[in-house]
Amino acid sequence: MDGLTSYRLKVNGTERQVEGAWAGESLLFVLRERLGLPGSKNACEQGECGSCSVLVDGVLVCSCLVLAASAVGTEVVTVEGLGAGGTLSFVQEAFVAEGAVQCGFCTPGLVVAVHDLLERNPDPSDLEVREAISGNLCRCTGYGRILAAVRGAQERRRSGTTPGGGLGLGSGPPSSPATPRETRG
Ligand code: FES
Ligand code: FES
Repeated sequence: MDGLTSYRLKVNGTERQVEGAWAGESLLFVLRERLGLPGSKNACEQGECGSCSVLVDGVLVCSCLVLAASAVGTEVVTVEGLGAGGTLSFVQEAFVAEGAVQCGFCTPGLVVAVHDLLERNPDPSDLEVREAISGNLCRCTGYGRILAAVRGAQERRRSGTTPGGGLGLGSGPPSSPATPRETRG
């Protein structure tokens, strides 16, 4: 059928086949609806809320703004890929421990954004933390518990107190077909 295509995506370290997809489908749609990875949330589909945040070749992006077909040949990491072997990552554990989850809709995107921050900058200042999560909207928490969770994750990461460390796919090469989330308008 016209406009349909098939391709392979590497997601969380595994090659996944996408069959008969419209070439204009977003990465968020393909992850959720075709590959059975609903962790990335669909809240605005306009790059405004950050709930769909994933890493593409180590670059934090809003997956609702990325064409899935353009991610062929890259390493995609979703929130499902952050904890190794079914364990929680440092960030996921800290969000639970600090009570940073209420309705939870923003949580996956925040977890990915904080993971990305601490991979790039293990000892961020308060301003750097606030800037890093400024693209993630939370309607429930008032952000206080989220900021505490970032510090909790920072401490866990520093002391290595949890087994989760992820797949190590968050630190890829700098090139990406996606627009980094930080530079969106
Ligand atoms: S669903 Fe992608 S930024 Fe809101
Ligand atoms: S916990 Fe509900 S939107 Fe953040």
